[in-house]
Amino acid sequence: MSSTTPDPAPAAADVAPQAWSGVHRGPLRAGEWVRLLDTKGRKHNICLEAGKSFHTNRGGMSHDDLIGREEGFTVTSTSGGQYLVFRPLLSEFVVSMPRGAAVVYPKDAAQIVAMADIFPGADVVEAGVGSGALTCSLLRAVGPFGRVTSYERREEFADVARKNVHQFFGAPDGETHPAWSLELGDLAEELPRSGKRADRVILDMLAPWECLEATADALRPGGIVCAYVATTTQLSRFMETVRLHGGFTEPQAWESLVRDWHVEGLAVRPGHKMIGHTAFLVTARRMAPGEKAPRKTRRPAPGAYGPDYTGPRPADVPEVEAPETPES
Ligand SMILES: C[S@@+](CC[C@H](N)C(=O)[O-])C[C@H]1O[C@@H](n2cnc3c(N)ncnc32)[C@H](O)[C@@H]1O
Repeated sequence: MSSTTPDPAPAAADVAPQAWSGVHRGPLRAGEWVRLLDTKGRKHNICLEAGKSFHTNRGGMSHDDLIGREEGFTVTSTSGGQYLVFRPLLSEFVVSMPRGAAVVYPKDAAQIVAMADIFPGADVVEAGVGSGALTCSLLRAVGPFGRVTSYERREEFADVARKNVHQFFGAPDGETHPAWSLELGDLAEELPRSGKRADRVILDMLAPWECLEATADALRPGGIVCAYVATTTQLSRFMETVRLHGGFTEPQAWESLVRDWHVEGLAVRPGHKMIGHTAFLVTARRMAPGEKAPRKTRRPAPGAYGPDYTGPRPADVPEVEAPETPES
């Protein structure tokens, strides 16, 4: 088990105003990432280094021509290519940063922050950290007086996440976000051992149901568990495990689809490309100790828990035997 930041969270006096948003102001500095956008909409992300050059199919440009300037300008390469220069936004950074595991896309990170009600000062636990994309959104939402404890069982992914989070939030003197702890290990084992309490637990992993018991024990009454799952089988198993646990409200499931629009004179139509399915989200609220949420009074849909259903089963739904098939 390893920890990258001191515990507990810092005192107000230790934190510079406007610090730890990941937004940098003022002239571009060596060591910062910038995003170059060409006239065909192609994006190039480069880390500024004094004395270095960036080569494109329209010639090169010197990093020294960018360092020291205020972002939001156009630079021309040696063969006349034009490039817009900005620091990447959080939503741009997470889709272009180096990846270990698949990342939570910005559209879903936004849903998680809103629907899991991540608030400034919150105590948030997440697993796994993967590449650290969701971690960046959580840290920004909780701010320097909150706490994000990220569990990751694979060291190589933890290393990628550590670098990415530091790249986004890191201070010039090497400090990283004061609200962040990265713990190496399985949430199901490490969270109970830590004795931590949490306002929100976010699970992005293959088998979130394996972490539900530990999540339930750590969550404060009224807290929220939120799972991000890619497939319908994971979605079903997680929802049924939450129901079976009994210490949560009825889980809610949804997905979000985001479509760009092309708007040009009379040509106003949906864009041709869209990010369709990424994953499903599920949320449920933790009941107070010993309290059970009333079960839905509506009967399950016909066949919902029929003979082909093999997952976790609500206590009041009996198993159904498959009808015998007539001999031919
Ligand atoms: C899809 S990735 C997470 C991506 C991450 N949320 C992001 O936005 O970059 C899933 C990660 O969960 C980790 N993992 C799976 N089960 C875990 C568990 N029980 N405890 C801790 N980490 C776990 C895996 O090693 C993997 O790195």
